[in-house]
Amino acid sequence: MNIIDIILKKRDGNKLSNQEIAFFVKGVTDGSLPDYQISAFLMAAFLKDMDTEETACLTMEMARSGCMFDFSEIKGFKADKHSTGGVADTTTLVLAPLVASTGVPVIKMSGRGLGFSGGTIDKLESIPGFNVNVTEEEAIAFAKQSNIVLMSQTDNLTPADKKLYALRDVTGTVDSIPLIAGSIMSKKIAAGADGIVLDVKCGSGAFMQTLDSAKTLATIMVDMGRHVGRKVTAVISGMDQPLGMNIGNSLEVIEAIEVLKGNVSGDLLDVSLTLGAHMLLLAERVNTVSEGKDLLQSHIKNGMGLAKFHELLVQQGGNPEIINNYSLLPLAKCKELVCCQKDGYLNHMDTALIGRASLETGAGRAFKEQPLDFGAGIIMKKRLGDFIKKGEPLAEIYASTDVQCASAADYLQQAITIGEDKQPLPPLILEII
Ligand code: URA
Repeated sequence: MNIIDIILKKRDGNKLSNQEIAFFVKGVTDGSLPDYQISAFLMAAFLKDMDTEETACLTMEMARSGCMFDFSEIKGFKADKHSTGGVADTTTLVLAPLVASTGVPVIKMSGRGLGFSGGTIDKLESIPGFNVNVTEEEAIAFAKQSNIVLMSQTDNLTPADKKLYALRDVTGTVDSIPLIAGSIMSKKIAAGADGIVLDVKCGSGAFMQTLDSAKTLATIMVDMGRHVGRKVTAVISGMDQPLGMNIGNSLEVIEAIEVLKGNVSGDLLDVSLTLGAHMLLLAERVNTVSEGKDLLQSHIKNGMGLAKFHELLVQQGGNPEIINNYSLLPLAKCKELVCCQKDGYLNHMDTALIGRASLETGAGRAFKEQPLDFGAGIIMKKRLGDFIKKGEPLAEIYASTDVQCASAADYLQQAITIGEDKQPLPPLILEII
């Protein structure tokens, strides 16, 4: 078998056999395929698509590309969650400690930023000392002790995804249903959780821009998970504006802490509670979603969620003082205020462009090895539907240089549409599958 023939076959829109997909994944995993041929394959798959059978084969080959984790010695139903990627999507940092504080173990392997979307691992690494590189043995020991582990994908878990994820990020091949489904479900299947809640983002700041494509992606992933014996729920949630107000690594950590302190309500809290409640439902910790939301809310009020976050920081070497002293987190030195250019209603945000603006600040990557500026990012000041006066602040930008600030400000201005008549607000939770 020859990789050039496989690339040509997909480039010409033909269906690949299981053997051809297995050959490709093996070559990615053992390093025998160079990045340029992998990238060519990814672009062919992106442009010509893969059917359900090819996607299922890709997923399982990727899941088997490394070892499968076995967390059976941890008592209880292990719940996991994964987002397809959005902007200011900080739900993991909110819901993981909340869910774990109710007694349901959360062992979550997270990823780095991808395209315009942020990644939990990058956010955690902005916390001084926090160690995301946890081995399987350490994860088991941590989970037994605290019920919570937030860790990077280990080298031996789905190494094929690790390689493909990094290449997709910089080759314009992220927003493909088979590639996203394969990437997410291979990791979730290999990571060994009993139940998985998938947050499938839909809207201008998501890889799936329409409800139809979000449903297709959600259905494929749910079917694949159930097929291999996992309990899976997909929540399709709106991404027509940044979910939280802070975009960027340390800035998002601060917002998550504020939510856990009970100081912030709004979309980030609502989506976190919905996803967390579905995790509790899968774990049979509660009988209904609304019971789950109430339980999680009560753990914000009584401080148990925040205490669990503190425990997580201590366990993984992060400085717990950040909870009460945000100046211990990095913050980029240059700041620029972006102001509204006319009176009117904030009717539309091109959220991917806002994510792009955050990359300009240095909060995300433009190439694979690019180091991040953990203190860079954007604080949004307005939400869809707000009436804004000319000259009022829309956002605050933080970066290391004024040039970066100015470039991010340009993107932000382009991303915002102000109109005279208020438009209806898009729904936050669109569908549960
Ligand atoms: N999250 C992943 O892990 N993979 C993708 O492809 C998209 C989001």
